[in-house]
Amino acid sequence: MRKKVSIVGSGNVGATAAHWIASKELADVVLIDIIEGVPQGKGLDLLEAMPIEKRDSYVTGTNDYADTANSDIVVITAGIPRKPGMSRDDLLNTNYKIMADVVGKVVKYSPNCILIVVSNPLDAMAQAAYKLSGFPRERVIGMAGVLDSARFRAFIADELKVSVENVTAFVLGGHGDTMVPLSRYSTVAGIPITELIAPDRLAQLVQRTRDGGAEIVKYLKTGSAYYAPSAASTEMVEAILKDKKKILPCAAYLEGEYGIKGLYVGVPVKLGAKGIEQIIQIKLTADEQAALQKSADAVKELVGVIGV
Ligand code: LAC
Repeated sequence: MRKKVSIVGSGNVGATAAHWIASKELADVVLIDIIEGVPQGKGLDLLEAMPIEKRDSYVTGTNDYADTANSDIVVITAGIPRKPGMSRDDLLNTNYKIMADVVGKVVKYSPNCILIVVSNPLDAMAQAAYKLSGFPRERVIGMAGVLDSARFRAFIADELKVSVENVTAFVLGGHGDTMVPLSRYSTVAGIPITELIAPDRLAQLVQRTRDGGAEIVKYLKTGSAYYAPSAASTEMVEAILKDKKKILPCAAYLEGEYGIKGLYVGVPVKLGAKGIEQIIQIKLTADEQAALQKSADAVKELVGVIGV
């Protein structure tokens, strides 16, 4: 039987995720939005691209959650994006209201699905979805680390003029200004980047990664990034649908791992058919642990405001 992925929000991130997922033939895709006509129009447009792409993914758009029934995965992108000068945290209250509305409807029709949360502020919205859904933590995953590490990888590959395929990188912590790009665990063909890039230059790449979302918002002015965020979400969808057991940095609900309890924070996890199948614990230096804790504290402050 075909897999089914529903995407809540048919804006740039949602529609582009539908595009990647359909063009990789990972699943049939349902786009859902409160705006009438937009998910239907974008869904139909994508469906009409499938003969050219030689893919049999069936793409539809709807305003009715009944059409999302029995999804294997639901990707939640609903919410307002940032404008220049705004931080992700400025979206907190508005997007929490949207999350509160969306999650109940998703869960009603797909009680066994895996939720991938993409809305910002990411970690707080993942925590909201976790609490609102009542799902086990394995089935509520936040997308951020894949995006942040992809940005870091792109900058490293560009700096060294090597294939992006040679570059692995890890970014931990919350998806915000306090995120923790882990240079020590980032490599080019297995060689730690700390041996290939001078410390001051590396510090610049780390900072550019932290500011990666804001750099795009500054260019676009009316919205935020969507190609890389949706590609990152698609990598997670693929890892789950194909049961790849892929280790990716994702926002996960920690219950004591890394010394953090009761909070969504970005850490390496193993993604497979059951969702988060393992939280990978790596040894951090005292500085890295302190940076992760600082990032967790920032998430904690936000979840405190919305009370989840
Ligand atoms: C970014 C937004 C989507 O990092 O959080 O681009």
